[in-house]
Amino acid sequence: MSAFDRVEDAARYEVVCGGFDPALFRAASVRPADRVLDIGCGYGATTRHAARLAADGHVLGNDIVEPLLAQARAFADDEGLRNVTFEAGDAQAHPFPTGGFDVAISRFGVMFFRDPAAAFANVRRALRDGGRLVFATIGPPDGNDLPKVIASVAPPRPAGAPPADVHSLADPDRIAAVLGKAGFRQVHAEPVEIHIDLGPDAEAAAAFVLAWGASRDLVGEGEERKARAALTDAARAFETPEGVRLRSTAWLVVAS
Ligand SMILES: C[S@@+](CC[C@H](N)C(=O)[O-])C[C@H]1O[C@@H](n2cnc3c(N)ncnc32)[C@H](O)[C@@H]1O
Repeated sequence: MSAFDRVEDAARYEVVCGGFDPALFRAASVRPADRVLDIGCGYGATTRHAARLAADGHVLGNDIVEPLLAQARAFADDEGLRNVTFEAGDAQAHPFPTGGFDVAISRFGVMFFRDPAAAFANVRRALRDGGRLVFATIGPPDGNDLPKVIASVAPPRPAGAPPADVHSLADPDRIAAVLGKAGFRQVHAEPVEIHIDLGPDAEAAAAFVLAWGASRDLVGEGEERKARAALTDAARAFETPEGVRLRSTAWLVVAS
C-alpha cells in the first residue's frame, strides 16, 4: 500500500474548503503588521495566505494533529515564508501568549472542541483588547451536501442523539451563546454559500471521499468495495452535466 500523500490531501482540502477564503479574508481584513492566530489550521493554506497579508507581522498556525503541521511547515518553507510558525496543541487549552494576537482566524477548525466555551475563552485570552475573531464553520445539514454523501459510509446516528461534531456550531443562536459565554461581544454570523466540485462523475466523487484525510478513516479495512458502492450511489444524486456539484453552506462569524 502506498504512503498517504499529504500534498495531494492538502489539495483535497482546498477543493472542499478553499471556496470560502474570499469571504473569510474579506472579513478578517488582515493588516501588514498584524499578529494572526490560525486555529485548527490543518495543512496551513489559510496560515500561509495570512502570512502573505501580514508581511511585517507574524502568523501562528495551530492544530492538534502534528503530521498535518509537518506538511504545513514544508509548504511554508517551500514558499520561503519567514513570518509563520506552526505549533501543535489542543486550542482549547494550549498556552498561547496572553494578548499575543490582533486577529484569530479559522477555516472549519473550531467545530470539534470538547468544550467550545472553554476553547473560545482560551482564544479570547490570546487576543489583545479590541482583537477580533473571524471563522467559518459548517452551517445547517440541509444546506450541506458533502456530509450527506459521507453519511452513506458513516454509522447512522441514533434518534435523538446530538448532532455530529461537524454541525456542532451550525445554529447561529448557539454560536452567539457559546461566544458570549467565552467573553466575546458583537457576535455577527452571516451565511456564505458555495459549490464544491467533487469530480466529473459519481465514481470520481466516491474516490475523492475514500482518499480524503477527513473521511477515509470512516471506512474499515476490507470495507472499501462496499463503501465505494454506497458513496457512488449517494453522489449520483448530485451529478450534473458539469460533474458532481455539492452545495456547501457555512456561517462566517465575526466577533470582538
Ligand atoms: C476540517 S479541518 C480544517 C483544516 C484547515 N483549517 C483547512 O481549512 O484546511 C479541521 C482541523 O481542525 C483541527 N482540530 C480539531 N480539533 C482541534 C483542537 N481541539 N485544537 C486544534 N485543532 C483542532 C483538525 O486536526 C483539523 O486539521
